[in-house]
Formats: sequence, structure tokens, C-alpha cells
Amino acid sequence: KNITIIGVPLHYGADRKGVDLGPDAIRGANLHERLQALGYSLEDLGDLNVRRSLQPPAPGEKLKYLGEIARVNQDLCETVSAEMGKGRFPLVLGGDHSIAIGTIKGVLQRVKRLGVIWFDAHSDVNTHLTTGSGNIHGMSLAAALGYGHPDLISIGGAGLKLQPENVVIIGARSIDPGEREFLKAKGIKVFTMHDIDRYGMKQVMEDAMDIVSNGTDGVHLSLDLDGMDPWDAPGVGTPVSGGMSYRESHFAMELLFERNLLVSAEFVEVNPMLDRHNKTAVAAVELIGSAFGERIL
Ligand code: ARG
Ligand code: MN
Ligand code: MN
Ligand code: MN
Repeated sequence: KNITIIGVPLHYGADRKGVDLGPDAIRGANLHERLQALGYSLEDLGDLNVRRSLQPPAPGEKLKYLGEIARVNQDLCETVSAEMGKGRFPLVLGGDHSIAIGTIKGVLQRVKRLGVIWFDAHSDVNTHLTTGSGNIHGMSLAAALGYGHPDLISIGGAGLKLQPENVVIIGARSIDPGEREFLKAKGIKVFTMHDIDRYGMKQVMEDAMDIVSNGTDGVHLSLDLDGMDPWDAPGVGTPVSGGMSYRESHFAMELLFERNLLVSAEFVEVNPMLDRHNKTAVAAVELIGSAFGERIL
């Protein structure tokens, strides 16, 4: 019942301004009030330090802003691990999805056998060898699994990594060719939009939760707001149409709360500069509310 909020105003992994304003946009959508109303005791650590206005990457530089992204993620890893060591639940607010590396590594220091639910339009399993964009937010799940640039996979200590059989991706609809091969080779379970259409969110979530809870001691939720349909969450840097509806996403969070599996969570890629009405940050807080136990009656 003790939650620690950690903001990570990082945009370098997306190489696009605005997503660094995500943590404050989410807080500004009444995050604290919503969680307090549910009876949680909150501590907000504020935002981690991110160097501002770095020089643009040199032409031909493969991984953009690698140094600062690795440094911030190491800091995040230590912060998450320290909070969990005090028995608290880390709720991380992004920032771009590269921060999943630091969050997951920090959680792994406390929960060795960790399951992950990766809610996203993308699979984020590119590496320095397969990336087309050079944007590290498209590489974070691979890095947490132990694949990618040495400066990313070494965060939190060598050998700290997720097992592929404990990871599920939900909502995917934009997967690069190299990623498709990676997912197949590692045997990672992906529930695509096709599966959600075919089986419904209830069945998909039940199957997903069975997988991530089997042989693990806790589950992390990594929720990229671009998993939602851009109609409901327009303020994201890499929107893909045909996503999970507001209701489906909301319902998924309610089912997650009912199973009581989560030990940590992060909500990422909210970009208020692309969202005049702050719809995406409001949606993020709605989803957080549901994941933490809000009910209609
Ligand atoms: N697959 C693309 C890339 O590697 C897009 C990744 C988008 N990732 C995200 N977290 N929004 O660049
Ligand atoms: Mn995404
Ligand atoms: Mn993502
Ligand atoms: Mn709700």
C-alpha cells in the first residue's frame, strides 16, 4: 500500500521533444488524488536529473544519445531498487520507453524471477544491429532481455536479465523485420491486435497473466501509451492506428488488479506537446487508477 512515484523526463530515446514533459502532464491529471482516494500512501520523489539540450548526434552515430540514456537508466535502476528495498511499489512516469531498461533492471535486483507485461503498439526488441531509427526507445525490451549494446545491457550489473518465457507483449501492430525474427528466435509470446480482435481482451489478459505469473515471483507492467488507439491517446510520438480502445485498455488494467500480480509499473511515451487537450495524460491516469483498484461501484 506504499507507492513511490519516480518521474523520468527523458526524451533522448525517442529523439523527439515533448515526451520529457510526460511526468508532469501525468501528475497534472490528478494522479496523486486518484491514488490517495484508493487508500495508498504516496511518496513522490520528483524527477530524476536529465541533462538538457544535448548536442544532436553526429551523422552516422548509430545509437542516438547512448551516453546520457545509459546514465539516466543506471540512476533509475538504483532508485527503483532502493525503493523496493524499503518495501515500496515503484510507479515510474516517462519519458520515452528507453527508461524501461532502468526500471526493469532495478526491479530485477529485488525480484530475480520477474514476469513482464509489455503493453505497446511496438515490440521494442531492436538492437544496435537491427535498428533502423537509432532510437533507443525501440531497443529497451531487447536490452532488458540481455541483447543489445554493452552499455545498455550492463546497466544494473552484468547478467541481470529477464527470461523470454516470462515476457508477454500485448497490443502489437508495428513490428520491424529484425524484431520479428528476434521474437520468433527467443519464443516471446506476442498478443497482437489480431489476437485481441479474435479472442477478446478478457481471454488475452487471462492467457497473458498465466504466462507471466508461471514460475515468477512478481510482475512488472511496462505500459507504452501508444498501445492505445491514437483516437484515445493521441499524444504519442510514434502513433499506430488500430490500437486498443479506451475500454479495452481500461478493462485490461482492472483484470490485472484482480490478479494482484504487480510489483512495479511504468507509464511511458506521454507527449503533451502533441496533445492539445491532454487526453493522453488523462488516459494514463485512468489506466493507473484501474490498475490500482478503482471500481465503478
Ligand atoms: N520500431 C521502431 C524503432 O525501432 C519504433 C519504436 C517505437 N518505440 C516506442 N517505444 N515508441 O524505431
Ligand atoms: Mn510503442
Ligand atoms: Mn514502446
Ligand atoms: Mn477504472
